[in-house]
Amino acid sequence: MSLKKNATMYREVVESQTLLINTQSKLMESQNRDVIKFGFGQSPFLPPKSVIEALRASAHEKAYTSVQGDAVLRERISRFHKEHNGLSVQPENILIASGSKTLLYSILLAFKKADVLIPQPAWVSYAPQAKLTGHHIIKLPTTFESRWRVTAEIIHRAVSQKKHDTTIMIFNYPGNPDGLTYSGEELQSIAEAVGEHNILVISDEIYGLLDHRDRHLSFANYYPQKTITTTGLSKWCGAGGWRLGVALLYDDIPAPFKKVLIGIGSETYSCAPTPVQMAAGEAYRNYESIKPYLARQRSILSSLGQYCYRQLNRANIRLHPPQGGFYLFPDFSLHQEKLRSAGITHSAELCQRILQDTGVALLPASAFGFDDHLLAARLAYVDFEEPGEEVSFDIATHAPKVVTGIRRICEWVEDL
Ligand SMILES: Cc1ncc(COP(=O)(O)O)c(C=O)c1O
Repeated sequence: MSLKKNATMYREVVESQTLLINTQSKLMESQNRDVIKFGFGQSPFLPPKSVIEALRASAHEKAYTSVQGDAVLRERISRFHKEHNGLSVQPENILIASGSKTLLYSILLAFKKADVLIPQPAWVSYAPQAKLTGHHIIKLPTTFESRWRVTAEIIHRAVSQKKHDTTIMIFNYPGNPDGLTYSGEELQSIAEAVGEHNILVISDEIYGLLDHRDRHLSFANYYPQKTITTTGLSKWCGAGGWRLGVALLYDDIPAPFKKVLIGIGSETYSCAPTPVQMAAGEAYRNYESIKPYLARQRSILSSLGQYCYRQLNRANIRLHPPQGGFYLFPDFSLHQEKLRSAGITHSAELCQRILQDTGVALLPASAFGFDDHLLAARLAYVDFEEPGEEVSFDIATHAPKVVTGIRRICEWVEDL
């Protein structure tokens, strides 16, 4: 057999399901099908004008920065997060890279062997990254009834499956795929549990600035001794394609660990694109001045999320009202019998049929760590265009595709 055809020589990884659904939706659109894109979680907002202008003005900045990132940018990020929610991270403990996904990967790659605790549900890329870096994955199973939240008890139970000395927990809120967050009491109880087992926590707070009530609490404030917070421009600044991610390390990070993280960066991405770092310098320049931009996004996302929640809930689709970001995690299991009669017993079949029958693209629960039988899916309510900050946002006028998409899902369920 030719070497090229022998698949066993390659690592087991396929295109991320989020990117795949985007490709499928685009294909249907090219066939003139009217597709509503609730599958891909991309911010519908433009970066602030001053940030776009800063990018334009920095096109000539062609030199590499240090691997850690531009010093002025790191200083601004440090101040910005202090003002936002009291996070205290020194500029020398900040890493900038081409996307927080890259930083998550570098952190996992820094360890030879670890147990990686991953909530279920969780963002699509954590498990593939942990697998690619050769770690042992332990799922943290949650339920609809417990709002898909991890608890101290779940963590205590999970560590009994440990195989290695190092344990890492990947934690994410406001959550993708669930749109939910944690209270201060919940974070405190989780911090006590991870502290007891000396777990390194990667707290993925990329949606933190999009907490709908602007009440985001950073886990590092509850567990400062061993939390790395990841964030970046992709969500709150509407700039996913610019690829700028941030990791906020902790004060007592062991010097060899930090050295390895910088070493990995130096051997892989070198640095985040310099013009984008310059533009990020503008985005992070002043938390006070960015507040109106953030407030508008929160208000639009909150009212749209609540609208979708109410409509779906009325159609007997179980879900929780959203608290941050732009996702919902509707669970169709109350319609299980009717779905089964229609030949649908898996989340992938559920999404395939909804896409075929209604043109609405969702991502199946199986992409978020569930076994395929959970009849749930992630819905990103972002198929709309921001009309401009001077216009007051009206759901029917400015998000007609979201309204249509939700109506089609409800009608599809009712007609089963
Ligand atoms: C929960 C979560 N973490 C991380 C990322 C990756 O973000 P970045 O664009 O910074 O790589 C995403 C993007 O969809 C996400 O939803």
